[in-house]
Amino acid sequence: MADDPRITFQRLRKADFPLLHRWLNNAEVALFYGVGDDNRKNPTMEEVVEEYEPRLKPGSRTRSFTILLDSRQVGYIQCYRVGDYAEYAKAIDLDDDAWAIDLYIGDDDARGRGLGARVIELFLEEQVFSLPGVTTCLLCPEPENERGIRAYEKAGFRYVKTVWVAEEKAYEYVMRRDRDRDA
Ligand SMILES: CC(C)(COP(=O)(O)OP(=O)(O)OC[C@H]1O[C@@H](n2cnc3c(N)ncnc32)[C@H](O)[C@@H]1OP(=O)(O)O)[C@@H](O)C(=O)NCCC(=O)NCCS
Repeated sequence: MADDPRITFQRLRKADFPLLHRWLNNAEVALFYGVGDDNRKNPTMEEVVEEYEPRLKPGSRTRSFTILLDSRQVGYIQCYRVGDYAEYAKAIDLDDDAWAIDLYIGDDDARGRGLGARVIELFLEEQVFSLPGVTTCLLCPEPENERGIRAYEKAGFRYVKTVWVAEEKAYEYVMRRDRDRDA
């Protein structure tokens, strides 16, 4: 634990699309992360552009970032208000004003070293709970994603329930952290 690289978040840029394409086709990422309403795994470059180009616009419902470790981009993270996605909000059936996070670490050598939990803690502070009135954040991995679940527990998230998300044809293991939780 001698050196502790600095974690920062950079707004997604068009120039990042080839990186996203590579990461989304990484075997470990593709196990649990896809794109589009149907959570398509291993997307083509065209599908990446179709999914992420609208995110570059200022009014995008989903806020997208790459994760930097010092000056190196190592992964992707996004957040959005659950209620802005009506079908998804119905499936989650919890709190439309909650925000949700999705993420992955794209580079193999950056995964499984404690980075995920640290990234989430910092992202919550800088990008989620800093938004006016946002007091609840959700993370919803697939129930089989034991590494993700463990990382999210380390970041203070607690299991709420498992739901069926019809559009993704998958179960999600809903985890929650409140801004004003007891320490
Ligand atoms: C999920 C992800 C973001 C977590 O980040 P990370 O940096 O790898 O996670 P961390 O190192 O902080 O924590 C992982 C924890 O899971 C544990 N773990 C690893 N593999 C595990 C397994 N198969 N079962 C249970 N726990 C496991 C680790 O030991 C560690 O816990 P510990 O610190 O108590 O020992 C990252 O692994 C990733 O991007 N995975 C691929 C894509 C993905 O799953 N995205 C999330 C979709 S919801």
